[in-house]
Amino acid sequence: MDRNAPVGVFDSGVGGLTVAREIMRQIPDERIIYFGDTARLPYGSKSRDTVIRYSRQIIRFLRTMEVKAIVIACNTASSYALEVVQSETDIPVIGVINAGARTAVSATRNKKIGVIGTEGTIGSGIYTEVMRKMRPDIEVFAKSCPLFVPLVEEGLLHDSVTDEIASRYLSELKGKYIDTLVLGCTHYPLLRSTLRRLLGEEVILVNPAYETAVELRELLMHQNLNRQKDEADNKEKYQFFVSDLAEKFTSFATAILPGEVKETRKINIEEY
Ligand code: DGL
Repeated sequence: MDRNAPVGVFDSGVGGLTVAREIMRQIPDERIIYFGDTARLPYGSKSRDTVIRYSRQIIRFLRTMEVKAIVIACNTASSYALEVVQSETDIPVIGVINAGARTAVSATRNKKIGVIGTEGTIGSGIYTEVMRKMRPDIEVFAKSCPLFVPLVEEGLLHDSVTDEIASRYLSELKGKYIDTLVLGCTHYPLLRSTLRRLLGEEVILVNPAYETAVELRELLMHQNLNRQKDEADNKEKYQFFVSDLAEKFTSFATAILPGEVKETRKINIEEY
């Protein structure tokens, strides 16, 4: 495997850019091929079989770009498809669930952890299962927050509507006295300040995007797959592909990522 090959990162849309952003920050030498399935989002309300089929197609596309490892940045796709695609793929594939779960389990003091995510992620029960396997004495309280994704996509990050909806979603978890909350959806780190304000300073917010970048860095190091800095390489460092609405993606990506995104290419993912 070519250690200077790019890392493939995919999501149902723009949300996975929060994971790409962390990879760019923490391992800036790595090249990234990002795919956002903007034609078929949201994944959060789709069935397991459909999300697995989509994930397989995206992995086939990313393999044509000769990636050396794949990060499933989407929590829903990680919940449903990670194990299946890992067993079918001969390069490393990681998701976002384990990293977030591990951090939450080591962070909690009162052993009460909340998890928020899409209907798919919460319905799969994966976060609860993984965290209780890591530490059987903890209690996990999970809550799906289906309106958060459209609110973020509409740019209503600091808005009274978002406050109102968030306080309804969170009231149940507050009543359980959680001291740690996993932001189990790509979009939720963008609501961090609202969640922080509503939950108070004492609740630890775990962002799986950050932890996933840490896990990727370690994995690449251990497998001698980390990119060599001094390589003379004039290839584009970050490339972006979507299944629809490339221009809209480009402006969202430019708002989220540290540098300007010049171009997003649209592909027909159903061909893969
Ligand atoms: N990327 C999805 C996730 O992290 C959220 C958006 C969607 O439902 O497609 O679960």
